[in-house]
Amino acid sequence: MSVLGMSGLGPETGMSHARSMPPGAAAARVAAESIRQQYGPDAPVPVCGIVLGSGLGGLADRLSGAVRIPFSEVPGFPTATVVGHAGHVLMGRLGGRPVMAMAGRFHMYEGHEAALAAFPVRVMHALGVPVYVASNAAGGVRRTFSPGDLMVISDHINLMFRNPLAGAVEPTDERFPDMSDPYDPALRALLHQAARATGVPLQDGVYGGLLGPTYETPAEVRMLERLGVDAVGMSTVPEVIVARALGMRVAAVSCITNKAAGLSPDLLNHAEVMDVGRGVASRFEALITAFVERLP
Ligand code: HPA
Repeated sequence: MSVLGMSGLGPETGMSHARSMPPGAAAARVAAESIRQQYGPDAPVPVCGIVLGSGLGGLADRLSGAVRIPFSEVPGFPTATVVGHAGHVLMGRLGGRPVMAMAGRFHMYEGHEAALAAFPVRVMHALGVPVYVASNAAGGVRRTFSPGDLMVISDHINLMFRNPLAGAVEPTDERFPDMSDPYDPALRALLHQAARATGVPLQDGVYGGLLGPTYETPAEVRMLERLGVDAVGMSTVPEVIVARALGMRVAAVSCITNKAAGLSPDLLNHAEVMDVGRGVASRFEALITAFVERLP
């Protein structure tokens, strides 16, 4: 679909204008307006926005009445390139509640700046979405973690050494956001409630966000263990930082797809990460559906 009808922007200029804008609040308003046009201007505001990590895109098929918008149709979005990331925005219902879902995300290891990795969260905010739900595939650093385990992120360590808020402060943002409790305690409790209701085992832990795209060395994994990291991945942190700067509540779940490097004799490869992701996907989908049903 085109972006015809966007206020003050022509069909072509709207798209190229947004592409040339920095991935901040103004570009997010343009993207949100385009999504609203394609979804229907009178559609309900989603109760949450969910980003689906590697191998977890199957949740998209659980949405009822979904409008599927390819990333290429969202002004300001680059096209997702990673295998296992389909590259669609979905607006529909999950557990009877209106939600927005993103099958695919933008990673810094693809060469994107941190602000662009977090841009979809700005678009959610511009649509009025109050809760950001992140999911990802992660390597288990905690020695008791096994492939297929699900972990609620209770805190993170930003080892990407980039911050999406660096630069001029956006009018929507806090300059110095508090990060003493980025993962909303009440939403974490709700995830555990949903886990009990669905019989899905769920643990808590600290997520370490690394730039990638290499997996870690065994020495790095031993370092991460000493730093207090329970699961390691290459996403989520920029998105959560921006969500907090915007005052959105955040919940996040990691799917442990493998033991981190050196903790098992196996070598790591993306195809394997995807395979385990599919195995754990149905438990993840049940958990998130029950969580969304319980959202205020
Ligand atoms: N390391 C980093 N990112 C990952 C891993 C890992 O072991 N598994 C899935 N994503």
